[in-house]
Amino acid sequence: MKKIIFVCLGNICRSPMAEFVMKDLISKEKFKLEITSAGTSGEHDGEFMHYKSQNKLENAGIKTQGFVSKKLTQKLCDESAYIIVMDNSNLKYVLRNFQRIEHKVLKMTDFAKELGYDEVPDPWYSGNFDETYHIVLTACKNLLKTLKKEFNSP
Ligand code: 4NP
Repeated sequence: MKKIIFVCLGNICRSPMAEFVMKDLISKEKFKLEITSAGTSGEHDGEFMHYKSQNKLENAGIKTQGFVSKKLTQKLCDESAYIIVMDNSNLKYVLRNFQRIEHKVLKMTDFAKELGYDEVPDPWYSGNFDETYHIVLTACKNLLKTLKKEFNSP
């Protein structure tokens, strides 16, 4: 099964949100896809997601069980068909630190062009989990359409 990975800095706010929103969207489709997420820092390895990301998801009826924060590795990159980064700093980091990935790195905001963001704002700093959730949901919906076409699914 094809796998995609969402990447942010801490893997507790943005990329877990994206992982679980995408899992929820996919669960309503025939299309099967393995979805995970990771952080570039590894600072929160082993932790659950930020409670405000969890609240946003749970309030939208999206289950969050089973999440454990982890650091991005070359193996995760190798296993993934696409690596979807949340901001320019994540992009720079992955391009510098991992091999054979240039052709499969995507920016989350490229799937939400209508919203006019260049990066998914980090709610760890902005405190605005609503804004982040809105961008993540919009981008995941468009990403799903793109992946269905790409992987030739009905
Ligand atoms: P995230 O947000 O990259 O969206 O998970 C952050 C979480 C934690 C930290 C920074 C950003 N931190 O510095 O611990």
